[in-house]
Amino acid sequence: MKQRIFSGVQPSGTPTIGNYIGAMRGFVELQDDYEAVYCVVNQHAITVPQDPKVLRENTKSLTALYLAMGIDPSKSIIFKQSDVPAHSQAAWLIQCNLGLGELERMTQYKDKAAKQESIGAGLLTYPALMVGDIILYDAEFVPVGDDQRQHIELTRDFVDRFNSRFGNGNDILVKPEGLYPDHGARVMSLQDPSSKMSKSDSNVKGFISLLDTPKQITKKIKSAVTDSIGEVNYDKENQPAVSNLLDIYSSLSMRDIDDIVSEYQGTGYGAFKSDLADLTVATIEPIQERYNQLMAGDEVEDIIRDGAVRANEIASITLEKMEKAMGIR
Ligand code: AMP
Ligand code: TRP
Repeated sequence: MKQRIFSGVQPSGTPTIGNYIGAMRGFVELQDDYEAVYCVVNQHAITVPQDPKVLRENTKSLTALYLAMGIDPSKSIIFKQSDVPAHSQAAWLIQCNLGLGELERMTQYKDKAAKQESIGAGLLTYPALMVGDIILYDAEFVPVGDDQRQHIELTRDFVDRFNSRFGNGNDILVKPEGLYPDHGARVMSLQDPSSKMSKSDSNVKGFISLLDTPKQITKKIKSAVTDSIGEVNYDKENQPAVSNLLDIYSSLSMRDIDDIVSEYQGTGYGAFKSDLADLTVATIEPIQERYNQLMAGDEVEDIIRDGAVRANEIASITLEKMEKAMGIR
């Protein structure tokens, strides 16, 4: 039997090239070796304010993008989080076994809370929902970008705690491991190399969305910040912006950084940026073509409906085990 993997992306905007390089591209490769479960985590997205209409559209659009990238519903389960009630049910059981201190220490919480005028309680308890996503499917591996390490560690601690509190010597839940890409696990903003590229950045010039037009992509890369050194070097300390562009270039072309650096010796940033723009467009264009076909038909809805049934079958079994172990069923 194949081992299971689980991952999720929030429909809080259109995925960026950071999501693609850091996580989603890997989803496609992994589905051949693992039994993969991929989720559109719309309940995570509502931990910060969302326009209901836009959220619904983004949810469908993200599902179509998963498919357009090559997630194959005959191999993998692809579903919408809110279609499987076990997620919110498990989140409650998990919250009752997590400490307030643990949740308050999460850097994602601190970062997001700092950006909100009023902080919803769901932003704090977000990791409980994420722990639930992973454990409900007995996932052994979780492919994610670097920013999720702390959440994966929390999940691992939670599993140990739950098994020792309620397992009577047996492991009820499976302890997962994070799978992080070697390169591109943390793609930075094109406008500020000290902050992560994010689909919800208010400065749209900071990120490349998978649905940007070739013209927008080229413009954003050409106006990406660099430095006054004027030489293409991989030096994260002194040339963080250029190093970030090199990371993107290397991830998309599968070429070594050193090889790319030597190609652009003495040419300045112009040619380098122009080639990176072409490479990015060439990566994204075929995905957009399939995306447009999918959005024009009914297939996406059918796949979401089927995914909900398959995900519910697995998740409800784990939920029942947890409830029994805790004495509420
Ligand atoms: P999110 O957009 O927060 O739902 O993230 C979905 C997945 O993409 C997670 O596995 C993240 O770790 C990954 N990810 C998000 N932003 C980046 C980034 N800038 N660089 C690399 N990976 C990222
Ligand atoms: N927290 C993740 C993010 O912000 C999204 C997510 C929710 C997730 N549940 C998950 C990722 C389960 C992996 C597994 O990117």
